[in-house]
Amino acid sequence: MKLIIDTDPGIDDAMAIAYAAAAPELELVGLTTVFGNTHTHQSSRNARYLLHRLGLSVPVAQGARAAWGKAEHNPSSHVHGPEGFGDLVEIPDIGENHATPAAEFLVQMAQEHRDELVICAVGPLTNIADALGLDPEFASNLGRLVIMGGAVFVPGNVSAHAEANIHNDPRAAQAVFQNPPKTVLVGLDATMKTLYQSSDFEALAQHSPDMGGFLRDISEFYLRFYKEVVGVDGCGLHDSTAVIACSHTHMFDLVETGLSVVTDGDRVGATLPDASNPPVQVCRDVDGPAVVELFTRHVASLP
Ligand code: RIB
Ligand code: CA
Repeated sequence: MKLIIDTDPGIDDAMAIAYAAAAPELELVGLTTVFGNTHTHQSSRNARYLLHRLGLSVPVAQGARAAWGKAEHNPSSHVHGPEGFGDLVEIPDIGENHATPAAEFLVQMAQEHRDELVICAVGPLTNIADALGLDPEFASNLGRLVIMGGAVFVPGNVSAHAEANIHNDPRAAQAVFQNPPKTVLVGLDATMKTLYQSSDFEALAQHSPDMGGFLRDISEFYLRFYKEVVGVDGCGLHDSTAVIACSHTHMFDLVETGLSVVTDGDRVGATLPDASNPPVQVCRDVDGPAVVELFTRHVASLP
């Protein structure tokens, strides 16, 4: 399966990209970047740095800098650190972005690879909504869209109602759910059941001193946030769980429903079942230990 990750790296994004590099059933053919955990130029620099460390030479196409209707974005540096990688603040700027902007790149890749291509969107859905707007055939060309976002049957993480990726661009998310490609939504319903603890990072680093050690080091900041603010011992494997859902659908309990996003007011960013929108597959449960084991097994095989 050919895979593009649309991403805002970000600590759990870095874990997901490492997983995609290690998993034999996935062929990473590009990254597209978006604002969210960081500003977009930081996401792109971090994406290029990760690819360099992983020894992969695939394009990084830079995408949207702000949500639909907004001029700028305020990054989640209290969760992911000032540069997106926790306490690590000097991140080498290696290589260059692809000449084509993210939404156009996604459109072109869907035209070229059609059913074979899966896009896993693990940041705000702005680039995906832009691609849908650029090409009326984008949704039907694409094999599948797997989204890390939303909290359909459980509380949110940035408010009682909303999950961060959807909250960061609710209008773009609503546009995607009104005209979805074949879509699987992996929200907090699943990802808060895939907690990764400090001891898991230590074990990973022992087997994979370079990449596992890097992930352990940048995750200290993230684990502190989870402990002090969320009150949980371990961090959600949010973005990795979505990447795993691209190939291991049997680990997920899926329910089919249309979705709508609240775009204004107190409940902004909430993802609600809505039968008037086309159906998507929503994960309402997951075999958490199986996801954690698969993540560790593959990433531990990296140098
Ligand atoms: O709510 C979790 C999501 O928000 C993840 O994609 C994480 O990287 C943050 O962006
Ligand atoms: Ca992310």
